[in-house]
Amino acid sequence: MKQVKPEILEAFCLNILKKHGVESQCAQTVAHCLVDADLCGVSTHGVSRLAIYLERLDAGVVSKENRITIERESPAALVVNAGNSLGMPAAKFTMEKCIEKAREAGCCFATVKNSNHFGAAAYYTRLAAEQGMVGICAANLTSKIAPYGASEPYMGTNPISIASPGEEGAVVLDMAPSVVALGKLIMAQKLGKPIPEGWALDKDGHPTTDPAEGRKGSLLPIGGPKGSGLAIMIDILCGVLSGGKFGPHLHDLYGDMQNPQEVGHFIGAIDISHFVDVDIFRSGVAQMSREIKSLRPAEGVSEIFMPGEGSDNRRRKNLEQGISLPDEIFGELLAIGKACGVVFPEE
Ligand SMILES: NC(=O)c1ccc[n+]([C@@H]2O[C@H](COP(=O)([O-])OP(=O)(O)OC[C@H]3O[C@@H](n4cnc5c(N)ncnc54)[C@H](O)[C@@H]3O)[C@@H](O)[C@H]2O)c1
Repeated sequence: MKQVKPEILEAFCLNILKKHGVESQCAQTVAHCLVDADLCGVSTHGVSRLAIYLERLDAGVVSKENRITIERESPAALVVNAGNSLGMPAAKFTMEKCIEKAREAGCCFATVKNSNHFGAAAYYTRLAAEQGMVGICAANLTSKIAPYGASEPYMGTNPISIASPGEEGAVVLDMAPSVVALGKLIMAQKLGKPIPEGWALDKDGHPTTDPAEGRKGSLLPIGGPKGSGLAIMIDILCGVLSGGKFGPHLHDLYGDMQNPQEVGHFIGAIDISHFVDVDIFRSGVAQMSREIKSLRPAEGVSEIFMPGEGSDNRRRKNLEQGISLPDEIFGELLAIGKACGVVFPEE
């Protein structure tokens, strides 16, 4: 493991992105989002993703420019076209617009089409929670989950995050509707480790502990028809509602270097003050958190956590101690830097 300071890691990633010709603001957002995911301990969506982003940028299937435009706008709705820009700037731009418009209208929901992988969904919902609003953010991806009852995949591991402000920190749910995010298979494969049974099926529909076989097959949805149904509804919001693509009509981040991913996002902000006094809301969330956390723990559980609490704890620790990167990931970053003349500064 290599221990790195977050600000140094971010500056390193930013320099690499700029060397690859990525527009400055987009590069800053991507570097910040990647390192933020590592800070939260979501290493599957952190700097380990820089390699594939650069590969796609260099292959010309993702725009290095900022081509994000608003196609349609009404008081509480936005239709954004990412123009095949990087997914992180597209999602951040859209959430910031939703927050702005929600102050007037009480809420604002947006669709984004022609976008790309945006990393961890919680990054964007936390922006709303920081402004005293509830944030919602989801994305669709190409086929990786088999619909309940089907033996082949159709929906992606479509993530969804909902964040609510509290009194001390936000409560942030951020999850894929599969038992695990695909990123956990990608990371296991990079580290040469097996995956637990119950995460994935191989291409013939048999359980597998080999992450490479699981990537060729499908991931299991959480809770059978419920996870399957959630993935379908996210695809409707992100794909069909955006006038974009969905399910197998989207293109794979890893397996397809010829076509843009064309993924969609569904993003929204709800201004609490239009519904209830913000202080009453915050103290209600705080009371709920206290009551849940003081329930009798189940056998073998030492502490009950609220959604996102683990991320907050890891962020605090990583800000103090630095981010621990597996040697394989740090080595990959050094090689990427070396190839474009960016040296990792000695700390
Ligand atoms: N961009 C994309 O296309 C894409 C696709 C899939 C997933 N993702 C991202 O992958 C990341 C990981 O997703 P995941 O489904 O593997 O998440 P996860 O299973 O690690 O966590 C899911 C949720 O459960 C909560 N949680 C976990 N352990 C808990 C505990 N002990 N007590 C209480 N709550 C707990 C977490 O706070 C989180 O809100 C997310 O950031 C997601 O946005 C992104």
